[in-house]
Amino acid sequence: MSYLSEEQLYRNYLEFFETAERKRRWNVFDDLPWELAERTRHNADLALCAETFCGVESYMPDYVGEGLNLFRDSFGQAWWHVNWGYEEAKHALVLREYLVRTGQRTSRQMFEFEADLTKRRWKLPFPTIRQMICYGALQEKTTWMIYRRQLAAAREAGDELLASIYRFISRDEAAHGGFYLDAIGACLAEDREGTVADLHHVFSNFNMPAYDLVPDYESRIEVMRAVGIDRTVFLREVFLPVLSRLKVSRRELAKAAAREAEAGLRTRLPMDRKQ
Ligand SMILES: [Fe+2]
Ligand SMILES: [Fe+2]
Repeated sequence: MSYLSEEQLYRNYLEFFETAERKRRWNVFDDLPWELAERTRHNADLALCAETFCGVESYMPDYVGEGLNLFRDSFGQAWWHVNWGYEEAKHALVLREYLVRTGQRTSRQMFEFEADLTKRRWKLPFPTIRQMICYGALQEKTTWMIYRRQLAAAREAGDELLASIYRFISRDEAAHGGFYLDAIGACLAEDREGTVADLHHVFSNFNMPAYDLVPDYESRIEVMRAVGIDRTVFLREVFLPVLSRLKVSRRELAKAAAREAEAGLRTRLPMDRKQ
């Protein structure tokens, strides 16, 4: 492991796991007011969003498989990754159960939807562990924000069952984001300049995972827009708070951007000379 010591990663993993086991675990079957399912008023927009998030979470085999290949030499990171995958799988399952038990989708429709999902594969967006840690922090914080907004929308629509589901999921997403932020903090302590460069690189090339892989994505976009996440919101509500929590200044980031631009220029120059 070239970025963080195994001792550090193991400590981070154990702390995350202990808190999850003692305080955060929830049960799909026992902890939700499923008795409300049959009385839930159907809401096409909320159901479409729930189905889309269920689709995104359902790429768990790719997230875990690709991640494990990258992290397999690190005990702390690999074990954390599997535990994280278990929690993401639960998110897909609970949203699926919600759609079927409320009668907004049939079981058959969900099997067909899932069969469609598996036709496409999610690939790692960045090649190094540290870049993926930076990506994880931004992705989890964005996901948390999206679920918090859906929680408010479900409450407003009077869907207490869906609101309870989003409450549990968003708590998990906050914990995932926290793990990555702690890992970035440790990376910064080890190699500040390199970590800031990775943060800048990931931010400049950031996209949420797998949304474009979900079937009929184009027709979902309109409703997804109501979720209200665009680049400005991402900058204001995700990236800047992440920087502030990490105590990385915008000036440091600008320096990293200048270095990246300079390095890009240097790598292009030999080609330029040939032309
Ligand atoms: Fe999730
Ligand atoms: Fe997550």
